Amino acid sequence: MEVTDAIKQRRLVREFRQDPVPDDVLYQIIESARWAPSPFNTQPWEFIIIRNSETLKKLAKFAPTIECNAPMAIAVVILPITAKYPFHQQVGEPEHAGAMAVQNIMLRAWELGVGTAWATIEKDNVKQILNIPEEFDVLTVIPMGYPMDEPPLHTEDDRLPVEDLMNFEEFRGVSEGRIIIY
Ligand SMILES: Cc1cc2nc3c(=O)[nH]c(=O)nc-3n(C[C@H](O)[C@H](O)[C@H](O)COP(=O)(O)O)c2cc1C
Repeated sequence: MEVTDAIKQRRLVREFRQDPVPDDVLYQIIESARWAPSPFNTQPWEFIIIRNSETLKKLAKFAPTIECNAPMAIAVVILPITAKYPFHQQVGEPEHAGAMAVQNIMLRAWELGVGTAWATIEKDNVKQILNIPEEFDVLTVIPMGYPMDEPPLHTEDDRLPVEDLMNFEEFRGVSEGRIIIY
């Protein structure tokens, strides 16, 4: 699959089949995550693979804005780089790098026929469930599995037109509707 196709065809998946994602497929997905860029190549991420249904149920309570039935999930743990790179830590770069790793996971998974989602989580509770120490962050928990149905392709209307996003030389401002304050 071409990168462009994976980018355009990937969909958020909420309805999953219950058959497991084989270890070799999971390995390939994590293998792709590690090629994401990171500040000074610090690779400030770890991935927790969760297949235990009791743990998945507990985690679901703390991802209240997503309902799904994934047979597994990947929690993305972010490691601090404060000691060596305090400025990069301060501006949030370990998390930015983690988000890039998530994108690699999502695209590679899609290429392999595996669906994913980004769950917004209550971090403190998730950390407690997964035994993640205080000083580490947990970026997201990614529900994962084979999609129940083939998700419909995006249409052009699902995204803003390119012309609306491009600014030249300086910021030109945006229409009122683009800024979500409330
Ligand atoms: C940072 C981030 C947080 C998200 N949080 C949630 C969430 O809590 N619940 C949910 O259902 N989807 C969540 N999503 C998924 C978006 O709703 C979804 O990506 C978007 O609607 C576009 O659909 P698509 O992924 O199929 O292109 C999140 C996505 C991102 C990048």
